[in-house]
Amino acid sequence: HRHLTGIAGLEPHQILFLLDEAEHWVDFNRGRGKSDRRLEGITQINAFFENSTRTLLSFEIAGKKLGADVVNMHAGQSSVKKGETLIDTAVTLNAMRGDVIVIRHSSSGAVQLIADKVGCPVLNAGDGWHEHPTQALLDALTIRRRRGAIAGQRVVICGDILHSRVARSNMLSLTALAAEVRVCAPATLMPVGIERMGVTPFKDFDAALEGADVVMMLRLQNERMSGAFIPSTREYHMRYGLTPERLERAKPDALVMHPGPMNRGVEITSSVADHPERSAITEQVEMGVAVRMACLDVLTRRARGVEGWA
Ligand code: CP
Repeated sequence: HRHLTGIAGLEPHQILFLLDEAEHWVDFNRGRGKSDRRLEGITQINAFFENSTRTLLSFEIAGKKLGADVVNMHAGQSSVKKGETLIDTAVTLNAMRGDVIVIRHSSSGAVQLIADKVGCPVLNAGDGWHEHPTQALLDALTIRRRRGAIAGQRVVICGDILHSRVARSNMLSLTALAAEVRVCAPATLMPVGIERMGVTPFKDFDAALEGADVVMMLRLQNERMSGAFIPSTREYHMRYGLTPERLERAKPDALVMHPGPMNRGVEITSSVADHPERSAITEQVEMGVAVRMACLDVLTRRARGVEGWA
């Protein structure tokens, strides 16, 4: 695997390998590791064609912690605004001879298109409705650390499943690692035939929550919806918002997760999002840096002449 375009195509042992590598960086970042500049001399280009806070900053921090030279391309300030095509942008990035390119784009498949054009590893930082593999890895790491295992955990993913690359990557990784995955959404935001992904769909959030070990909430992605499908936020909150009362249906020690950005008062109430024991939301962000350190290290090993990508 020269690129990381998605969880699809990764074997379970490869997912576990990346989680184990990330585990090392969690300890390192908590101050138990010495300085490590294994990416010294590596140029990392972060090309973000869509907004981001967590993913962009954590990829930048991850690269810098490992000694890489990190440059960020923001589409809003780039020649994309002057009409340059994605392929021409890819050829331009390639000509600059970066050693690894991290891409976020609003079109599903854009990352693969660029990966096919450039001569260095490409990491998908989220493409359209398709995949967000490093998010799924950081979510899996958070679940494994907090629940002790992934296999057998009942994970409920609730929200705008249709437009969510986070849901898609998580369905792929969590089913590959033998979790029991339930997805919950209004009918208009649930992909047809989702059972084929090995998950159980629910329209009723209360029923989905019964006995849950993990409740993963997603934002309504209004930017990806045509007007007809946008539910009123008030009604959505009544039927699909995670409130303290609703959370009672899950296991008493169930974990609450959200990839961010959150819309407080819509898909999740503040008291649940900020719950000191149940919420793992800030821990997810911490795991994000460790997972991205692991991915940058592992994906550049071949170029650095280092063994060790499963
Ligand atoms: N979870 C996530 O991808 O957040 P950002 O859009 O802020 O990067």
